[in-house]
Amino acid sequence: MSDLIPRQEGAAVLVGVDFGLPHFDAELEELGLLAQTAGLTPIARVVCKRKAPDAALFIGSGKAEEIKELAEIHRASEVIFDQSLSPAQQRNLERTLDMAVYDRTFLILEIFAQRARSHEGKLQVELARLQYLSTRLVRRWSHLERQTGGAGVRGGPGEKQIELDRRMISESIKRTRERLAKVQKQRGTQRRQRERREIFNISLVGYTNAGKSSLFNALVKARAYAADQLFATLDTTTRSLYLGDARRQVSISDTVGFIRDLPHGLVDAFKATLQEAIDADLLLHVVDASNPHYPEQMAEVQTVLKEIGADSVPQLVVFNKIDALETGRQPLHLVDEMEIEGVRIPRIFLSAHTGEGLPALRAELALRSGSVSDAAMTLASDAELHDAAN
Ligand code: GTP
Repeated sequence: MSDLIPRQEGAAVLVGVDFGLPHFDAELEELGLLAQTAGLTPIARVVCKRKAPDAALFIGSGKAEEIKELAEIHRASEVIFDQSLSPAQQRNLERTLDMAVYDRTFLILEIFAQRARSHEGKLQVELARLQYLSTRLVRRWSHLERQTGGAGVRGGPGEKQIELDRRMISESIKRTRERLAKVQKQRGTQRRQRERREIFNISLVGYTNAGKSSLFNALVKARAYAADQLFATLDTTTRSLYLGDARRQVSISDTVGFIRDLPHGLVDAFKATLQEAIDADLLLHVVDASNPHYPEQMAEVQTVLKEIGADSVPQLVVFNKIDALETGRQPLHLVDEMEIEGVRIPRIFLSAHTGEGLPALRAELALRSGSVSDAAMTLASDAELHDAAN
């Protein structure tokens, strides 16, 4: 690359490899959003097909050459892969392409690190990053280990450095775990206090960008941060919600969004934040009905719910953003049912933006949280209104 024209800081080439999996996003739209959320500028996209990843480079050497040329033309400073790379693949790609190479996991960790606000959230992300780093570091140094460890020779600069780094990271992991345990104990106490007051707990869950915070705001008239960015909300926010139909106060929590291939360390780390979802009496599974990939996104949410042990909590599915649907895709009824993994679940179509369908949701929540009479009437009249409108 000619060094006369500098690389554009943050300009990224996005790469996706199609292994024939159903969720493959040929436009790399989600990766683009992830990159933007992390503060990068996607300037070119490369997609290719493979049966299996190449052990050394993940892609073929011809494709690597193509990416390198493209990156040079656009003066890109980094290349981002939509899939997870092994530490060796990442290192080999960096050498071949002569620039920084990141994967989806790294990007998600980066965003989480930038966005965590609460003390607990920050500690959780820190822990996940340290765990990710520890595998990379150890293997990144392994060639030095071999160089210095042969023929009965022990020690040497490489080995010492590895040892130091390993020790530093494992000590940091230990310290972060201890601090986290303290914070989580406090959170547990707060939750038990809520439980003692016998409050009905509702938790919003859903794929990132589905509109959870917008719905939360619309319901409680709060101002939780909603943005067209991924993971705008990282820390669980809990508010009281008064359901007039049921003349009842319930508590409602907005939680972190889920995403395909959520790094494992993060699922573990966020278990505590998602404890609200695990302990909820009802999950509002918010879906972006206007996203063509919504079926895969719903499946992903179900997978994460299983992983955190919240799959047996009753669910209500909310198909949000109906204002963004074309006329032909508008629902006939605002309330119906759908089947998820063999279970019939009530579904409500709404728009957190326009407020359409919100009365039906409130009525359904009132029903679920205890009272039947007034709520059922509202539910019926709301559905009738919509029928009449169609
Ligand atoms: P994460 O924090 O990433 O998990 O996102 P979230 O699920 O909390 O979504 P958020 O409420 O931040 O909304 C994501 C984007 O969708 C924002 O640009 C919202 O303005 C938009 N959005 C939310 N609800 C609606 C809706 O009813 N209609 C339309 N058209 N857009 C919506």
